[in-house]
Amino acid sequence: MLGLEIPKRRADQVRKTLLKHSLINNELKIKRLGDYVYIPLASKLGMDVLEEIGLEDIKTVDMEFEIHKKSPRSLKDYLKGHISPQKIDEIKKSFDIIGDVVILEIPRELESEKYQIADAALKFTRRKAIYRKGSEIKGVIRTRSLEHLAGEDQSETIHTEYGSKFLLDVRKVYFSPRLATERERIVKQVKDGEVIIDLFTGVGPFSVSIARHRKVEIYAVDINPDAIYYLKSNIELNKLQGEVHPILDDAEKFLNTRKLEANRIIMNLPGTACKYLDDAISSLKEGGVLHYYEFSSDFETPVSRIKQAAGTRKVSILGERKVKSSSPGRWHMGIDAVIH
Ligand SMILES: C[S@@+](CC[C@H](N)C(=O)[O-])C[C@H]1O[C@@H](n2cnc3c(N)ncnc32)[C@H](O)[C@@H]1O
Repeated sequence: MLGLEIPKRRADQVRKTLLKHSLINNELKIKRLGDYVYIPLASKLGMDVLEEIGLEDIKTVDMEFEIHKKSPRSLKDYLKGHISPQKIDEIKKSFDIIGDVVILEIPRELESEKYQIADAALKFTRRKAIYRKGSEIKGVIRTRSLEHLAGEDQSETIHTEYGSKFLLDVRKVYFSPRLATERERIVKQVKDGEVIIDLFTGVGPFSVSIARHRKVEIYAVDINPDAIYYLKSNIELNKLQGEVHPILDDAEKFLNTRKLEANRIIMNLPGTACKYLDDAISSLKEGGVLHYYEFSSDFETPVSRIKQAAGTRKVSILGERKVKSSSPGRWHMGIDAVIH
């Protein structure tokens, strides 16, 4: 292996110059023998570097160096030499960590490396189960198929978000940790005493987080029996100041039979929430706040839909945000609107 022999007194200065030019082979250990230090080189030195160092008392050598036994610190470290750094970055961006479960996307061309990637993810994240996304989120209950790749095949877990705990099964219910900031933003807007409808509640991340901090009354509705089962557990699992009523029902049916008058309605079903806008707005008190979500490439589409559904009632837009990317050029948009 290629190395540089340097007298001890000059070793530090030469090491700094080599570092500056990324010429040290960091996988090998620097050696000290008698009055000399031997630095493993990543490549041959050019004349410019040799001149900068000063040639008089150093020489290049061919010798054995010990390999560093450093433990890998990143997914890149684990997969180095097997998968290109760009592909690893793509996989990393797709990571969703929900409690002890990791869900990741592995492109088809890496099919034969999938177990190796999953094993690396298991070691890197120190979670218990690794699943691969097997489909897009689909259907009424908004779940996806998952392929178990490493660790335990245990899809039920407890996820903690801003201090709230959520028991859920990633195979049976929708849950996205990427909405944590959005939920926290909504929690901060709520005041004690409000009556709230969380129309597509899932396992209750909006409802439970709000009720942990505020003395409110929340009607948390979902059509998926598993979501309502976990919502009930989550009401038990968290110390709530407010009251959450879990309701297993279709949103439209619920709104039309209960005819509540709410201060705030949350509509996080971005693909089809627009179908329920008329009924939801009818259940909002004068001056009530609507948190409406829609997949869109612009803000105008969801805003004009809200205005149309409000009819003769005045609408003031409080805020509009790209909550997360859903596909190239399209976002999960969030609109906050006051309906007067
Ligand atoms: C995108 S998830 C949102 C869950 C939750 N709000 C969250 O932030 O994690 C939408 C939820 O709406 C529920 N859903 C779909 N259609 C429904 C309907 N017609 N009535 C009530 N719930 C419905 C699904 O079961 C799913 O749990």
